[in-house]
Amino acid sequence: MTPSEALLRFDHVTREFAASASPVRVLDDVSFSIARGEVVALLGRSGSGKSTLIHLAAGIDVPSRGHVRFDGADLATMPDAARTKLRRDAIGLVFQFFHLLPHLSVLENVLLPASIAGAPHAAAADTARGLLDRVGLLAREHAPAGVLSGGEQQRVALCRALVRSPRLVLADEPTGNLDDRTAAIVMDLLLELVRDRSAALLFVTHDRDLAARADRVLTLHSGRLEAPCSASS
Ligand SMILES: Nc1ncnc2c1ncn2[C@@H]1O[C@H](COP(=O)(O)OP(=O)(O)O)[C@@H](O)[C@H]1O
Ligand SMILES: [Mg+2]
Repeated sequence: MTPSEALLRFDHVTREFAASASPVRVLDDVSFSIARGEVVALLGRSGSGKSTLIHLAAGIDVPSRGHVRFDGADLATMPDAARTKLRRDAIGLVFQFFHLLPHLSVLENVLLPASIAGAPHAAAADTARGLLDRVGLLAREHAPAGVLSGGEQQRVALCRALVRSPRLVLADEPTGNLDDRTAAIVMDLLLELVRDRSAALLFVTHDRDLAARADRVLTLHSGRLEAPCSASS
């Protein structure tokens, strides 16, 4: 992959957090790229730095050293307005705990990113309903999100992450709070939705079988990336 083909690129990224004695290094000289449309799994034990890496990729956090680039632009030095727009429109986020607003309807939750972006309501509602149909929840569009099961709520969260047609979806243990059967359904849907839309996906998982469904697997050990290998090898 040449640098110009990379959608997301980490170059020698180190992240340290201040601590009483010396700074704690949570990510140490991490470099990798994700191409447009590529599906990449991020494996690693608890505390290895996975969520920190996801926050840096989303522009929610900035590196202590090194650079995170989206489509060639350095997230740390781009103007605030551009970074906000990128986070809102080009990147979709899915978390372990769905973070829906329980009193809003299913449809309103999916539409939130579009409403915040000021997108025309009718077109956004069409997109949102199409996504809800795709995950089997269109019949529940008017239900308060809080009455849905965990698996259903995560399916709503997938729709919310995709409603702006992002080029990159970042998912931090998207099935970590679900039973095995529900996890498989949610993971199938996430993979289908991103592949249908040619969006790239970086997803965190503890599960090697789930990771094997990615095009490529990255593994973190105590903040350092293991030499890359292909998912099938
Ligand atoms: N804001 C922070 N301040 C201090 N330490 C942090 C902060 N965020 C994460 N850490 C530490 O960094 C390490 C990696 O955390 P995290 O990225 O959440 O790991 P993972 O998602 O792989 O479990 C942990 O030891 C955690 O305590
Ligand atoms: Mg984590």
